[in-house]
Amino acid sequence: FEGMTVVELAKRTGSSVRSLQEIMASVGEKVGSEFDPITIDVAELVSTEVGVNVKRLHSEEGAILKPRPPVVTVMGHVDHGKTSLLDALRKTAVAAKEAGGITQHLGAFVVSMPSGASITFLDTPGHAAFTAMRARGAAVTDIVTLVVAADDGVMPQTLEAMSHAKEANVPVVVAINKCDKPGADPERVRIQLGSEGLPLEDLGGDVQVVEISALTGTGLDKLEEALLLQAELMDLKARVDGPAQAYVVEARVDRGRGPLVTAIVKSGTLSVGQYIVVGAEWGRIRAIRDTLGRATELAGPAIPVEIEGMKGLPMAGDDITVVGSEERARMLSQGRRKKLEQGRLERMSQENQEICAEEG
Ligand code: GTP
Ligand code: MG
Repeated sequence: FEGMTVVELAKRTGSSVRSLQEIMASVGEKVGSEFDPITIDVAELVSTEVGVNVKRLHSEEGAILKPRPPVVTVMGHVDHGKTSLLDALRKTAVAAKEAGGITQHLGAFVVSMPSGASITFLDTPGHAAFTAMRARGAAVTDIVTLVVAADDGVMPQTLEAMSHAKEANVPVVVAINKCDKPGADPERVRIQLGSEGLPLEDLGGDVQVVEISALTGTGLDKLEEALLLQAELMDLKARVDGPAQAYVVEARVDRGRGPLVTAIVKSGTLSVGQYIVVGAEWGRIRAIRDTLGRATELAGPAIPVEIEGMKGLPMAGDDITVVGSEERARMLSQGRRKKLEQGRLERMSQENQEICAEEG
């Protein structure tokens, strides 16, 4: 890596020299000639800002990738049983663990299967979290579970969820819910989904369909199996060593503990004591807890954790970047704030101009 210049970094990240220099200036870095060597710290900071992981560019080739659990989001039409399904799955998670810890509501939980495999479910309001993360380019979800009520069939938000998943290139596993109801007609749901262009397995496609009842618990094991099979096909792996790249699933303020962030690591490992920049906020990780409330030192890929130690409250979908020092954390968060503020002012002045144009 020694001696990388802004010019080279621009080539590697596909950005212009000028935009990289602007970012350097905004975080308080000295901007010299574009041929001056820059440190790896600065290169990382800057490239993270343009959405490229430099660590990956220059060293992920040799990195050891390990299998990781899939991260699953549940989506579907109003009242089709998303919350009921998550509650039912959560129960299987807690029962399987039998841990003494108090289960926390973190916006995510982990189901451990007897085989040793596990599945991470996000239980933040599906669409909101999904779109918030997508808008920030953070595709944290690997698989969408599309819930369709067997008595109601395909509805507007079913189609919306389908198109979200398609745009994000995230595979779907269909859960036909409420199959316990007298009016249930799973066959009709299959035909509807098929005619909407979803390539169902029964019709020679690769989208699995499982019939379930969130109320009685029927078929939940089948759904979990289907999700694991889908995950296997995707061969999900992540780098475990090295600095973490992570995302915020949920953030809230606790009176005693301050801002609390539920995070999912995408690659690398987060550890207590690290300085992090989260969206436009920063902090130093004071404590990490798992979904059972147990304190831990480290957080690896695809496992949801709660992080304590932020100075401010970030937003769902924000990315978490590890930086080397408090100084850098402050600089980067300040730079981002400035950028946000600029964006806000630009939008305001544009709106004003539009109003003036209308009035004139
Ligand atoms: P929103 O969050 O409002 O979009 O709804 P939701 O998709 O989370 O649905 P929710 O889980 O709240 O379920 C809606 C209603 O359907 C509730 O009255 C549930 O009790 C009922 N319900 C959910 N799953 C089943 C099921 O498998 N069988 C039956 N009979 N009822 C169910
Ligand atoms: Mg709900």
